[in-house]
Amino acid sequence: MTVTVNLPSRSLVLLSGAPGSGKSTFAKRHFLWTQIVSSDRCRAMVCDDEENMAVHHQTYSLLQHIVRLRLSLGRFTVIDSTALERKHRIHYVSLAKDYHFHPVAILFDVPYELCVQQNERRDRRVPLEAIRHYHAMLQETKRSIWEEGFAEIFVLNAEQIRTAQISFRDKEPKERDNKRRN
Ligand code: GTP
Ligand code: MG
Repeated sequence: MTVTVNLPSRSLVLLSGAPGSGKSTFAKRHFLWTQIVSSDRCRAMVCDDEENMAVHHQTYSLLQHIVRLRLSLGRFTVIDSTALERKHRIHYVSLAKDYHFHPVAILFDVPYELCVQQNERRDRRVPLEAIRHYHAMLQETKRSIWEEGFAEIFVLNAEQIRTAQISFRDKEPKERDNKRRN
C-alpha cells in the first residue's frame, strides 16, 4: 500500500536507517538538494573525505549549525544521517521544538540483506560490520522511537520506500512545482 507522508512545511524530518537502506536516494527523489542536510556531505565539507570517521565532532557541529540556521529562517529541513542513536534523535526533537517545528521521523525498515546488496552496488562501500551494527540498532529504534517526542513517525518497508508520496498539507501543489524548477 502506498504511504503518503503528509507534512506541514515547518517540519524537521529525520531520516533514520542502516547504511545502504536508501536514505540519500529517497531524499534526492523527494526533496530539494538545499533542504537536505546530510552528515556525509558535512563530513566532506570539513575534511574533504566523507568516509573519515575521525571528524565526527566537526561533522555534527556543522550539521547542527546548518539545521539551526534553517529552522531559524522557518525553512523545511531534512536530516540525512543514520540517526539510530536515541540521544541524537532526542536532541533533534528538542531542536525542532525550540523553533516550533514539527519533528518527524522516517524509519527505513529494510532487511539486512537488502542493505548489504544495495551497499555492494555503489561506489562508497560501508564495512559489513557497520551495516550489521546499525541494523541491530534499527530493531531497538523501532521499539523506542515512539516515546521520543516525535509528532509523526513513518516506518517504511522497502516497497513503501520505493512508492511513498510526499505532500505538504499547507501548500498548493503548483507552488511546490514552481519552487522545484527554480
Ligand atoms: P548511507 O549513506 O551509507 O547511510 O546509506 P543510505 O541509506 O543513504 O543509502 P543510499 O541512498 O546511498 O542507497 C544505497 C544504494 O542503494 C545506492 O547505490 C542506491 O542507488 C541504491 N538504492 C537505494 N534505493 C534503492 C531502491 O529503491 N532500489 C534499488 N534497486 N536500489 C536502491
Ligand atoms: Mg546516505
